[in-house]
Amino acid sequence: MTYLLGIDVSTTATKALLIDDTGEVVAVAATAYDFDTPRPLWSEQDPALWWNGAVRSIRAVLDQAAIDPKAIAGIGLTGQMHGLVLLDEHGAVLRPALLWNDQRTGRQCDEIRRRLTREHLIQITGNDALTGFTAPKILWVREEEPEVYARIRHILLPKDYVRYRLTGSLATDRAGAAGTLLLDIRTRDWSDEVLDALEIPRAWLPPTHEGPEITGTISDEAARATGLAPGIPVVAGGGDQAAQAVGVGAVQEGVVALTLGTSGVVFASAREPFIEPQGRLHAFCHAVPGRWHLMGVMLSAAGSLRWYRDTLAPGIGFDDLLAPAANLPAGSEGLLFLPYLTGERTPHPDPLARGAFVGLTVRHTQPHLTRAVLEGVAFGLNDSFRLMQEAGLPRPEQVRVSGGGARSPLWRQILANVLDAELVTVNTTEGAAYGAALLAGVGGGVWPNVDAACDATVRITGSTAVQPDVAAAYAPFYETYRALYPALKPAFDRLGTR
Ligand code: XUL
Repeated sequence: MTYLLGIDVSTTATKALLIDDTGEVVAVAATAYDFDTPRPLWSEQDPALWWNGAVRSIRAVLDQAAIDPKAIAGIGLTGQMHGLVLLDEHGAVLRPALLWNDQRTGRQCDEIRRRLTREHLIQITGNDALTGFTAPKILWVREEEPEVYARIRHILLPKDYVRYRLTGSLATDRAGAAGTLLLDIRTRDWSDEVLDALEIPRAWLPPTHEGPEITGTISDEAARATGLAPGIPVVAGGGDQAAQAVGVGAVQEGVVALTLGTSGVVFASAREPFIEPQGRLHAFCHAVPGRWHLMGVMLSAAGSLRWYRDTLAPGIGFDDLLAPAANLPAGSEGLLFLPYLTGERTPHPDPLARGAFVGLTVRHTQPHLTRAVLEGVAFGLNDSFRLMQEAGLPRPEQVRVSGGGARSPLWRQILANVLDAELVTVNTTEGAAYGAALLAGVGGGVWPNVDAACDATVRITGSTAVQPDVAAAYAPFYETYRALYPALKPAFDRLGTR
């Protein structure tokens, strides 16, 4: 038997997942940690947490599985995107990493747009300058910590730091690299024009690789630390969203991956580098060689439901909370919910956006509020769907839904009707780590390409069809929903960060 290992360096834990060459999960382990917010808007993590977490989790899966480590044909890395890891000439970490959810770089984003113009930046990189992305973080360090900046010799993304510790190689994947704002989305390599405009030396950046390409092998030192065998190939892998899409088989144009976690992600694979001209969607490289994807990110999706339950219905289980909402009509009798509880990214990149219930009357009961939350999240995700079609992407043939929120049949039905698309569930539920293991399988010779890896392992387990009359009933509510953000924006701005 041959085995594959996926490692997911996320914001909350580093997870190791061992699968066999039929795609069966053999063992899984995660080592949890926190991130620091030393000042308002800041979000940082010590890269040592990721390495120590990887060592513990790898050791735990090897113990659980009790296999010969030499039977592992490949290792794939995935993890949180956009983070900034800075190393000196000896490979030592210079300061805690700035994470994807760090918001300190508003001024640097303006500076990037000033140097390149917003339109041109979007045309090259596929994206507008967002505070969470990597490039503005580099400018922040240059401005605010010049003594650190002077010692930088290497720039890595979080999972690539773990790669460096596993293999000694400095390398990154193109899906993750696209999230730095320094990649030319069309050539799938660093953009000299952007690097020159921002005065960032290209020599600091690692070579970029397609997801299944081998970037190095387990070093003797890493083998001693982890219990792995020296020489196992480590493939590039992918940023967490691209690896998650591989893990549910969303690799072909026409198939969309919808993840209903704390945040909500709409991920559409594409054969060409589609760009939303105003940068309201993210346009990134896929972890599949020669493919791209468009992505919309809602910051509080299942997070909205959790907040609602914890705040307004504490102690009630989700099943009990949702059951009576199923009997109400589409549109919750005129009650709408805006899910911007932690600001928003798509389609309104606005940290000041706020949540709201709009349309309350004395007739509304708790099930109305519950249903309005489910519908509001669906409307917000539909904004990403609409932007994708406006950007030229064909209408999705199938939406593969995953994440905690997707366990609710009611929410799946609401989503199918609001998005006007069939929703399917799949057998693979281990997320990005599973996708990373599949990419390792391609690099390690188990499958000839990513399509074949997904065909061999990912199966559809259920389907939710559109109910055309209900879908039609949602249309006017969605139009009203869309009008609410622009109408409330002045109030959000006045409320500011209070
Ligand atoms: C993707 C994104 C998140 C992070 C953290 O654009 O910001 O998915 O990668 O998981």
